[in-house]
Amino acid sequence: MSTAMTSNLIISTAFLLSISACYAETNYQPLGKPATEISSQSEWNLTISPDGKNLPEGSGNAAQGAKIFALQCAACHGPEGIGGTADPLMGEVGSLASEYPEKTVNSYWPYATTLFDYIRRAMPIDRPFSLSADEVYALSAYILSQDGIIDAELDLSEKNLPQVTMPNRDGFIAIYPD
Ligand code: HEC
Repeated sequence: MSTAMTSNLIISTAFLLSISACYAETNYQPLGKPATEISSQSEWNLTISPDGKNLPEGSGNAAQGAKIFALQCAACHGPEGIGGTADPLMGEVGSLASEYPEKTVNSYWPYATTLFDYIRRAMPIDRPFSLSADEVYALSAYILSQDGIIDAELDLSEKNLPQVTMPNRDGFIAIYPD
């Protein structure tokens, strides 16, 4: 390799290194927060079991949930919980074995407690953890009552949510039964 080529190589390598150093300084945006800053145990351990373990105290009904849904969910999930850009939530119960199966929360999910867990930790998708426990019970009550899975008058709470039987509860086969 000629001296000129070698020095060119050195110069271009130095140039590339300086660019990446610039990027490191100016474009680095830290994501999340250090684990040590997450204070309470409950912020870590949010998972709710099918039997309702870890459900927070609170309650809400379908009428309250309908108002929250219209304001905070319908834009993505559709006004009736189906037909929006995001996953369908309600309707199509009993369709799974039909020619046109549709997996909605109400037609497919085996446990109602998962609905609470999912909404609390992930929705609205642009503002996770923004809803109170009462609001999440109300939204769950609204979604479930739309397909008659619970009575529309029921105050859903940590006590009765685990007792809700989802329509597709027996449609899942445990890989490890024990
Ligand atoms: C900005 C759009 C947006 C808003 C607002 C929003 N969602 Fe979602 N939601 C999504 C998207 C996108 C997904 C799919 C996420 C994925 O699969 O990772 C989703 C998934 C879900 C699911 C799981 C559905 C499934 O079958 O997997 C539930 C339940 C849900 N949303 C409930 C709600 C509720 C309740 C609200 C209002 C409090 C809400 N969402 C607001 C976009 C949104």
